[in-house]
Amino acid sequence: MFEFPKDFLWGSAIAAHQVEGNNIYNDWWKDEIKGVFKFRSADACKHYELYQKDFDLAKALNHNALRLSIEWSRVEPEKGRFNEKELEHYRQVIRALKERNIEPIITLHHFTSPIWFNQLGGWQNKKAVAYFLEFVEKIVGIFCSDVRYWVTINEPMIYIYFGYLLGIWPPHKKGIFNSISAFYCLVSAHIKTYKIIHRLYQENNLPRPLVSVAANLRYFFACRKNFPARFSAYLRDKIYNLWFLESLSKHKALDYLGINYYTKEDICKDGHPQVEKNSLDWDIYPQGLYEMLLKLKKFKLPVFVLENGICTSDDNQRWRFIAEHLKYLHKAMQEGIKVIGYLYWSLIDNFEWDKGFGPRFGLVEVDYNTYERKVRESAYKYAEVCKTARLIEA
Ligand code: BGC
Repeated sequence: MFEFPKDFLWGSAIAAHQVEGNNIYNDWWKDEIKGVFKFRSADACKHYELYQKDFDLAKALNHNALRLSIEWSRVEPEKGRFNEKELEHYRQVIRALKERNIEPIITLHHFTSPIWFNQLGGWQNKKAVAYFLEFVEKIVGIFCSDVRYWVTINEPMIYIYFGYLLGIWPPHKKGIFNSISAFYCLVSAHIKTYKIIHRLYQENNLPRPLVSVAANLRYFFACRKNFPARFSAYLRDKIYNLWFLESLSKHKALDYLGINYYTKEDICKDGHPQVEKNSLDWDIYPQGLYEMLLKLKKFKLPVFVLENGICTSDDNQRWRFIAEHLKYLHKAMQEGIKVIGYLYWSLIDNFEWDKGFGPRFGLVEVDYNTYERKVRESAYKYAEVCKTARLIEA
């Protein structure tokens, strides 16, 4: 049996564009309409209309925390013009969570940006940070009394990799120089957001907020133990996993370490042991979560697993995935890593970016014809863990 702390945060995560539907003012939508991608988010899961229902499910599944993102392009569809109706919508969304005693974990940027923001140069414009901060001031000003946990930017390195280095996601600014300028811009956006959030809480006499990013961590595995393989794994780890976090930690701009863990990556092209895969062919490697957690020790900060999940058509595999990752999480905690929570990605099946609706990550199945939700068996098993803070099944 694996016991977790009584005050642990248990739950799941979603993100606006992947579930809400009709986020017509953001860069992804624009590309989807233009046919840049094979798939369109369209109504997505109709979560914008059905959020109460979805939160009822989260409650019934004993989640005490839920991570969601506020869609910047909805609340500020034109530069400087905030849409009161949309702000009111998110007020109701957060109220709906509070009424159910579910802790809201709020992400401010989850891959999508307003079309106007990209037209003005995106994260490469000198004023980009200032534009983002106007949105931050507005949102945090409204929600500070109801929200304690903030996530500034979701997976900055994934965003830079696909949106800048490879240029296949918006804003399609391919190349290493674009990537580096976006990197520093996002670092600065985070640090300034961190300061604004703390200032607003102080001004309003509120308990200290907890602010972080959601860093995607990948376990880079050198199967051959020779120098080039090890060095390559070390470099990737240093740049992809640690560079962003280190840049923020230097400025003391992290209250906890928000991490998303999904998979490992082999350094060598061949000769490595085959492991189980998800439906997108990513390696499943629960031990990697443990290895990554140990690496984070040096930051001396509590860790919050903001995403961990699997897309699969085999729900038994989903439960095995959750249980195995929780076992390794527990092992790291036994060895002195402080972890404050675990969120499964995702509460419901959703729009998996350029992969469309095919990959099924949800604890809850979505029927995209009727928008009906059907709770999967794995969700009930996880609900037992959420309720008891105990994992019994091996
Ligand atoms: C992202 C999610 C995405 C999930 C599965 C994370 O990289 O934050 O938006 O759906 O992984 O790919």
